[in-house]
Parts: sequence; C-alpha cells; structure tokens
Amino acid sequence: MPDFPTLKIGNLEINPPIIQGGMGVRISLSSLAAAVANQGGVGVIATAGIGGMAREGGKTYAQLNQEQLTAELKKARSQTKGLIGVNIMVALADYDQLAKTAVEQGADILISGAGLPLNLPAHAGDRDVKLIPIVSSARALSIIAKKWKNNYNRLPDAVIVEGPMAGGHLGYDFNEALGNKARSLDDSLREIIPVAASFAKPIPVIAAGGIFDGADIARVLKLGANGVQMATRFVCTDECDVHPNFKQMYLNARKEDITLIHSPVGLPGRVVQNEFVKKINNGHKVPFKCKYQCLRSCDYKNAPYCIAEVLHQASLGNLENAFAFAGSNVYKCHEIVSVEKLMQQLRQEYIQANNQ
Ligand SMILES: Cc1cc2nc3c(=O)[nH]c(=O)nc-3n(C[C@H](O)[C@H](O)[C@H](O)COP(=O)(O)O)c2cc1C
Repeated sequence: MPDFPTLKIGNLEINPPIIQGGMGVRISLSSLAAAVANQGGVGVIATAGIGGMAREGGKTYAQLNQEQLTAELKKARSQTKGLIGVNIMVALADYDQLAKTAVEQGADILISGAGLPLNLPAHAGDRDVKLIPIVSSARALSIIAKKWKNNYNRLPDAVIVEGPMAGGHLGYDFNEALGNKARSLDDSLREIIPVAASFAKPIPVIAAGGIFDGADIARVLKLGANGVQMATRFVCTDECDVHPNFKQMYLNARKEDITLIHSPVGLPGRVVQNEFVKKINNGHKVPFKCKYQCLRSCDYKNAPYCIAEVLHQASLGNLENAFAFAGSNVYKCHEIVSVEKLMQQLRQEYIQANNQ
C-alpha cells in the first residue's frame, strides 16, 4: 500500500506532502499553521492585512502588519517544531518590509504570488529560507527563474502551480475562469513539470487549486507533481483562525453559489455568492476614503469598495457587507474537523485511490 511520498524542498522533508495555502485577511494565522506543521505538512501564515484595520497609537498600517507577523510567527514557533511558511502577495504595498520581517523572524519558507515575485531573493540574503513563487504558466516560471539566476544566482526552491479552481485571487482571465474555459490545473502541470525539471537543479512542483481529497492528491502526483497546496479544505478545521461564521458560510455553500468578482487588486477573485456579491457584481458601490493604500495595484480613487475592509469584516464573521473567498470545491465541505483528522482522511483516501 503506497503511502504518501515525501515532498523534498532542498534539505526540508515534508510528509504528508501538503502545504497549507496562505489565506489572508487573517484566515491562516499561527493556530492553523502550527496545527498543519505538527502533522508534518507546511503551515503558512498569510500576511495580507495581518495587522487588522485599526491604527493604534499612531502606528502605520505597515507597522501593524510587521508587528502582527512577528507575533504570529513567535506564537506558531511556540506551538510547533514543524515547518512554517509565510505567504506574501506581490501586490501588497508593504511587500518588502513583510518579506524582511518574515526572514528576520526565521520563517522556513516564503511563498509569493499574485504577481511575479522578481525581487524576492533580495530579502533572503544568506539566510537558509526557501523561496517558492506561485505561477499559473510555464512562461511565468521561466521569467522568474531567469531573473533570479541572473540577479541573485539562485533558482526557486520549488514552484506552486495554481490552477483556475483555486480560491482568492486568480491568475486567469475573468471570463475564461467564469466559464470554466481557463487551462486546467492538470494541463498546466503537464506544461510546467518538464520546464521545472529542465533546470540544472530540478525545481519541485506543487499543485494547487481545487485539490480537495486524497484522490485529487493521487491524481496530481501521478501527473508528476511532488506535492500539493490546499487552502479551502483547511478553513473547515477547528484550528483555522477565522470566525465561525466564515466557516459556516463554507458549510452552507452550494455548487451554484461559487462565483467570481472583479477584485480591486486587478484580478478575478473566487467567492461564495451572497447578497453583497450580487450587489457589487451589479455595479453597487460602497464609497470609502482609502486610509491604507495597502495594494500597489488598487486604483483606490475609483475602486467600488475597499477590499481590505471587506475581507477584514469577513474575517470577523461580519458577512452581511462582505464576502468569503473560497475555492471551486468549497461546496464539498460538510463538517468542521481537526487538522489531525483531515490529514488522516487525506492519507486514507490517497492510499485507497492508489489501490484502485
Ligand atoms: C479564503 C482564501 C484566502 C486566500 N488568500 C490568499 C492570500 O492571501 N495569498 C495567496 O497567495 N493566496 C491566497 N489564497 C489562495 C490559496 O493560498 C490557495 O493557493 C488556493 O486557494 C488553493 O486552492 P484550494 O483553495 O482549492 O485548495 C486564498 C484562498 C482562500 C480560499
């Protein structure tokens, strides 16, 4: 009975070969990350909006983010000896400070997408921190690898290939993703795996987007992926840091409720439909004065609403005027379980799928 193979990223050995996807704003923090790391996977703290929206004692939004990231990393470390990663979206205005803080605070892995993380190695210095970009195409991987090799003499330690069924912001055209016409994860893997293997030091490939059960893991590993990144599934765990109302929205979601929004980040975002989503998709605007300028790509003078505020409210469970990002398979979530139980289930399903 073939058990999970080990995902090797440099000297790191990860079994189960599962990275918990970073989930901002304040969805994957130290509690979830430590629980996943304690099971042998990689727990990931997401930095987007991690410091919350309130400004305390004259501190800036960026300062609060750095302080909270430091606190969450320390908390995670006090709860696990396992591997902790930090997710930093390229679109964040305080990207450089967050990357620096994560490295200083001893994160094992930095994961970066929603744009091309071309200068990520600048923040690693000579620390042994693994750097993993998230891409949706072989072209993006080639551009990143070339730039990192030329400017920093290093290659990505692994690459996450994110397909169109993922939750949150998607690196795909809105209409293609909406109509299920975007290139599938499996096709992207077929394209990217040979490219990743062609470097002097082959780059391990991690599949993400719509991986829900052990059979999905078996499928992508058979295609040649070395591991998976899963996010949506981890929301429905006891340890996930988000408010119970957010988890309940996942449990209530039906297949027909999964839709896309045009995010002010400049990318489509997959969400669970509710009245608020219907309103904004019909052109409704929520006027706001931008206090944070948290995203490089947000045209905040014309944005129909403040996405930072909306996601912050969602994390607090105030979903009337907010939405929950979620992956395409969210409607398959029917219960909240412990991370330990989820990992056991995934392992059993994986073994079963390989025996069929
Ligand atoms: C609620 C939610 C928030 C997310 N936030 C982020 C984020 O802050 N940064 C990021 O790179 N990806 C983010 N993602 C994407 C996940 O990390 C992951 O790659 C993707 O959702 C995988 O697909 P799955 O959810 O079907 O497993 C988010 C996904 C969800 C569901």
